[in-house]
Amino acid sequence: MNKAIFIRNASQLVTLKGSSHAPLVKEAMSELGIIEDGSIWIEDGVIQAVGKDTDLFEKYSTRLAEAVVVDATGKLVTPGLVDPHTHLVFAGSRENELNMRLQGSSYMEIMNAGGGIHATTRRTQAATHEELFQESVDRLNQFLRHGVTTVEAKSGYGMEWETELKQLEVAKQLNERHVVDVVSTFMGAHAVPKEYKDAPDAFVRKVMEEMIPEVAERGLAEFNDVFCEQGVFTPEQSRLILEAGKRYGLKPKIHADEIEPYEGAELAAEVGAISADHLLRASEKGMKAMAEKGVVGVLLPGTAYFLMAESANGRKMIDLGVPVALSTDCNPGSSPTVSLPFIMNLGCLKMGMTPAEVLTAATINAAHAIHRGHEIGSLEVGKKGDVTIFNSENYMKLQYAYGVNHTDTVVKNGQVVVRGGQIVEELSLS
Ligand code: NIG
Ligand code: FE
Repeated sequence: MNKAIFIRNASQLVTLKGSSHAPLVKEAMSELGIIEDGSIWIEDGVIQAVGKDTDLFEKYSTRLAEAVVVDATGKLVTPGLVDPHTHLVFAGSRENELNMRLQGSSYMEIMNAGGGIHATTRRTQAATHEELFQESVDRLNQFLRHGVTTVEAKSGYGMEWETELKQLEVAKQLNERHVVDVVSTFMGAHAVPKEYKDAPDAFVRKVMEEMIPEVAERGLAEFNDVFCEQGVFTPEQSRLILEAGKRYGLKPKIHADEIEPYEGAELAAEVGAISADHLLRASEKGMKAMAEKGVVGVLLPGTAYFLMAESANGRKMIDLGVPVALSTDCNPGSSPTVSLPFIMNLGCLKMGMTPAEVLTAATINAAHAIHRGHEIGSLEVGKKGDVTIFNSENYMKLQYAYGVNHTDTVVKNGQVVVRGGQIVEELSLS
């Protein structure tokens, strides 16, 4: 049995209280529920009490000796950060493409010439399960060191069943063996394989009729995603794929309006997607439809930054009532980063979001984007003991002093797993 944890005396403790039932929208995205001189008592992996230090000290005075006490004096305490959109499981890297893009090639040109997603697919196909696992563990450790306690992970570098299965199995194993929770998404329709170049519909059928049923039967994913983009999958093909997933219990997600406007946001609302992601070129009509249906807009300003494109209009989406979340989009082509705090900074400086809004977007709204709002994303009694402590006296300073990893301590399931910015516990990979 693990010891209880008593996190004491934070200069600001961000609770995001009262947000478990639905993602926050509009002004409510700024209601952080801050407690000054705040403390939390966690036991059996679950939050038991949250409040002023004086109150919790009194309540637990007879039990102090049995708890691990974490002094958060002068520090910021938040819910463990949640990353709702990553391509965590892949092999290799593509720094050569950065060089090509700096010399004028576009992301799509590189992909159409057989690089891009196809290049990572070849590397991922060639990697053994163990190699893929190890590369992904290293990334997951980096996520953890940046204060992230839950990540979503997509397949999609297979383009044939064997490699898709390998990616999904690695994600499952990571979830079982790594302290960070990994939530799995099937993304069989990430690009059209070269063999299907002239018959993309045949590939769409393969995804719908062969892969999706197999993923569902083996319980390998909760969500089903598609790259709806000009030159990749059309809105019609995307609709078919997402509807097929729904029939097998996989909730729809969609890479929408990333490079060109393609009515992806509208499609997300129409199929009842849990989230529409990217949205750099989303139309106002699409945004309004998302707001109406409560589709979470998962914004990825790191991708816009890295592709040297204009970011999504986060400010406008929030004002229109779209529940906005933030994510790294961690992948080897368009956003090779694990730093969700840096993405939050871009949210402020590139999308006009406030420091309060980006914190909501990377915690409770991110949790809702992966159907986890009831168990993570806020610091409330009954929720998982997932907490991040930053070396920052207040939440605004996190966005002000940028480019630095402020993560000091991470508590996952009620256990200290990062201390002084370093992982304390060797991962038990038994
Ligand atoms: O979210 N847009 C499609 N997929 C990823 C990029 C994948 C890659 O380039 O390897 C994205 O940007
Ligand atoms: Fe992505």
